[in-house]
Amino acid sequence: MTQATAQAHPNIALVKYWGKRDTALNLPATGSVSMTLDVFPTTTTVQVDASAAEDEFILNDVLRDGVPAERTRRFLDIVRAMAGTDARARVTSHNTVPSAAGLASSASGFAALAGAAAAAYGLDLDDRQLSRLARRGSGSAARSIFGGFALWHAGDDEESFAEPLAAPADLAMVVTIVDAGEKQVSSREAMRRTALTSPYYPAWVSSTEQSLAAAQEAFRDADVARIGRITETNALRMHAAIQGSDPSIRYLSPTSVAIFDRVEQLRAEGLTVFATADAGPNVVALCLAEEAPAVDAALAAFAETVIAHPGPGLRLVAEGEQ
Ligand code: PMV
Repeated sequence: MTQATAQAHPNIALVKYWGKRDTALNLPATGSVSMTLDVFPTTTTVQVDASAAEDEFILNDVLRDGVPAERTRRFLDIVRAMAGTDARARVTSHNTVPSAAGLASSASGFAALAGAAAAAYGLDLDDRQLSRLARRGSGSAARSIFGGFALWHAGDDEESFAEPLAAPADLAMVVTIVDAGEKQVSSREAMRRTALTSPYYPAWVSSTEQSLAAAQEAFRDADVARIGRITETNALRMHAAIQGSDPSIRYLSPTSVAIFDRVEQLRAEGLTVFATADAGPNVVALCLAEEAPAVDAALAAFAETVIAHPGPGLRLVAEGEQ
């Protein structure tokens, strides 16, 4: 039996991935940009066991079945095909981010699984190959292979990987946990519904292509105000496209909207802060690291908050270390 353990952190997109060009290969309709956080890591061990009849997936000490187990098995099938074996595995994962609450647990989850499974099955993959592999589990996981800021390219299977982007400044994120419960509609289903039924989907894709080009330019110029404005607008455009689905999907709650308002006020008061939100009600405020305590103090009136800084990329964890 061979085993390996890997750890990865969630990431929050500044320019979002929402919609696929290819569902089987998880190829995004557009590229995206994110910051990997230094909080909420996922640590995953993969034990390859040639004598086992089935894969097992244990998440936070509970043996899982249904969709989570099926997604894990399908991901291991990809790794097995690459390694030329059909040996099954036990996957034991510890997630410290509230699962499926729109806090990107699938990004840290599949990045950690990609790292641990590749090592346990004896594959020697570089970061680019690991990013392509993680993408197959969950698109946003392609970006969690890297620490700090990352750009994930759209393109075909060979070309669609993430790579690091130089930090434009000393930035932080204040994560508000408006609701840590499981979301009603998964991002997978909501993306599909948006692409199929929202009249705003084509405009979302074309405007995101423009936002991506503008964001890359703003990163090169280290123009934080422009990066922030692109981040907030892109998030609200994504939510507008999602709300335009039939049946409609609303991820933002009244508290989320109040936090967007408060962030706008904080800007009027002179702070460099911008809001974003993934597929859930939890708003994340991007700000200058030195202003994070002030932003945190203001947003703590609405929900539990956590200050996050740019975190590390995927790493293998040595036995005995955690
Ligand atoms: O990787 P998925 O399938 O969980 O989708 C992530 C979608 C968003 O978090 C809303 C946006 C993004 O780019 O991370």
